[in-house]
Amino acid sequence: MAKLSYHGHSACTLETDDGTKLVIDPFFADNPATELTVDDIEADYILVSHGHFDHFSDCIPLAKRTGATVIGTFELVSFCGEKGVESGHGMNIGGAHDFPFGRVKLTPALHTGSVAGDDSGTHTTDCAGFLIEFGGKRFYHAGDTALIMDFQLLKGRVDVALLPIGDNFTMGPEDAARAVEMIQPKVVIPIHYNTWPVIAQDPEEFRRKVGSAAEVRVVEPGDSYEF
Ligand code: NI
Ligand code: MN
Repeated sequence: MAKLSYHGHSACTLETDDGTKLVIDPFFADNPATELTVDDIEADYILVSHGHFDHFSDCIPLAKRTGATVIGTFELVSFCGEKGVESGHGMNIGGAHDFPFGRVKLTPALHTGSVAGDDSGTHTTDCAGFLIEFGGKRFYHAGDTALIMDFQLLKGRVDVALLPIGDNFTMGPEDAARAVEMIQPKVVIPIHYNTWPVIAQDPEEFRRKVGSAAEVRVVEPGDSYEF
């Protein structure tokens, strides 16, 4: 079994069937949705969708503490290297790579970019999502994104999808439900909502909008989902 542990906002740990721990969008210290800190988290790999603080702020501390390999866009991984992270694997959108645990592809995301902590401003970078395939399972973390036609490229290729529903900074429930229609995952888990008042959403409203298009699993921060 694979296990997804949700830490609130976009942060989660995906443990693959072989026990590899992938931490996606680490955001703990300033994350109102969790009491966890980087000291509580184990990681073999850290995947970062983009450089905004609410996805990236604990990446470098977690990588330094655990020795985990950081996976993300080339510029973001290079920035981590400049800050003393020893292991990184830079990629770019549309590219995939076979890691020991499985295959990771960076997918398009439409969102703005800056890198928290980059005082030089030279690492401004595009944003990505992650399609992760391991042991015959297909997992998709959309990162921060608007509703984009590119979702159609994922049609029928995703078993479990994590989609932002918070609105304001990303898709809201209505657009996320349209994304579900395009992607047609078996299971969809809403993320990136209720962290702050500006992205307050009722996940049951999202469930109603999705209807029979996919199974909606609402996973609360601190809870997990096995598949
Ligand atoms: Ni963002
Ligand atoms: Mn965000």
